[in-house]
Amino acid sequence: MSKEAQQRMEKIVSLCKRRGFIFQSSEIYGGLNGFWDYGPMGVELKRNLKDFWWRRVVHEREDMVGMDGAIIMNRAVWKASGHEETFSDPMVDCKTCKARHRADQLPKKDGVPYCPNCGGRDLTEPRAFNLMLKSYAGPLENDDNLVYLRPETAQAMFVQFKNILETSRKKLPFGIAQIGKAFRNEINPRNYTFRSREFEQMEIEYFCRAEDGIALTDYWLEERLKFYEDIGIPRSKIKIHDIPDGERAFYSKKTYDLEYEFPFGVSELEGVAYRTDYDLSAHIKHSGKPLEYFDEEKKEKFVPHVVEPSAGVDRTTLALICQAFDEEEVTDEKGNKEVRTVLRFHPRMAPVKCGVFPLLKNKPALVEKAKSIAAALRPHMMVFYDEAGAIGRRYRRQDEIGTPFCVTVDFDTIGENGPELAETVTLRHRDSMEQERIPISELRARLEAAIF
Ligand code: GAP
Repeated sequence: MSKEAQQRMEKIVSLCKRRGFIFQSSEIYGGLNGFWDYGPMGVELKRNLKDFWWRRVVHEREDMVGMDGAIIMNRAVWKASGHEETFSDPMVDCKTCKARHRADQLPKKDGVPYCPNCGGRDLTEPRAFNLMLKSYAGPLENDDNLVYLRPETAQAMFVQFKNILETSRKKLPFGIAQIGKAFRNEINPRNYTFRSREFEQMEIEYFCRAEDGIALTDYWLEERLKFYEDIGIPRSKIKIHDIPDGERAFYSKKTYDLEYEFPFGVSELEGVAYRTDYDLSAHIKHSGKPLEYFDEEKKEKFVPHVVEPSAGVDRTTLALICQAFDEEEVTDEKGNKEVRTVLRFHPRMAPVKCGVFPLLKNKPALVEKAKSIAAALRPHMMVFYDEAGAIGRRYRRQDEIGTPFCVTVDFDTIGENGPELAETVTLRHRDSMEQERIPISELRARLEAAIF
């Protein structure tokens, strides 16, 4: 990572802590590597992302339904899916300092890998390390009660395929969507929340006929690119990596990785994979249960194929923050130059949609009016009422959390300067910092049009 990129990342991490987006998990006890907590702003951002994804892929489509599966499933699921046997990363130990690393991510000097912890070159041979986190379900901690915390949400959608098909009465092609936690015992969690041990996924399993698999993979790639554009991540910042033959999972006939230009490098946000009939066939074989589809018109029975767009909530949240982060030089009212830090979120992603301020906090008529505007907006959007400090500082605080609009109630609003401007407020736009005067009666519709 260049020095500039490193500094940018440091500023982002510091802003995220200072403004309540992301905290280290269990921070007062020294934290826990690979685990993160989202604060008041972070949780709103993440909810906006998940709600918009759900709206786009479930509510706005006729061919999709949702589900919410358990995190812990019968161990047989993970034997059938191949995870128990093969869901591993190559691991090496440094014989000098005993640190453990992913073999495929070791730095190299003159082509020779070395330990990033102590610089030692005396490393063990790589061996497979299974990434699934284990626990026990039941009172005895024995092999019969061993369970895994799911490393992906996908399997619940495969094993519930028949129940969902029968209860939803969908016809091919149709898909199942799910958002939920996943866990991986990553050897080296890194790059802030990018590679965590606990994270959330937004996954789709789109079932289809074999002959449609490749075309639908291209279709979903395009849908997903549109989605990223609609949340404020332009196509120009996403690299599409068409995984070549020989590098894809053996059952996949086509896989695209969508990679975002993070400050620490271009890295995967989402995969769109054509997984053929591998998953359903594996569960038919291991469970002995019929998971085939019967086409009434053609009187044909077959195992559907599947296209899987699988995105990370935490990675997309981090991409939204990195994309939104900006610093610009501005001149304040006294003519002093200062750096304005601003998160330029798309309004539909912004944690707070509107800041509402009385011009002065010691004027009861202004305070009362501002509070009544905030209360009227609150059922429709996330609002932040603030009366502390100079108005310019209040704007800056909202800029730092990415609030797209701020409303100020002044003496015009309460009719002190004549009836023409009574019941109007100043609407300030975050990106341009421009202000306009609008009637209170138009406020809600104006804001809703921008944040929907
Ligand atoms: N069902 C397919 C699947 O799980 P994956 O590429 O292993 O595929 C899908 O994961 C997405 O989940 C990734 O593109 C990424 O966004 C997210 N993800 C995977 N591992 C992660 C981790 N350790 N931390 C944060 N997000 C992760």
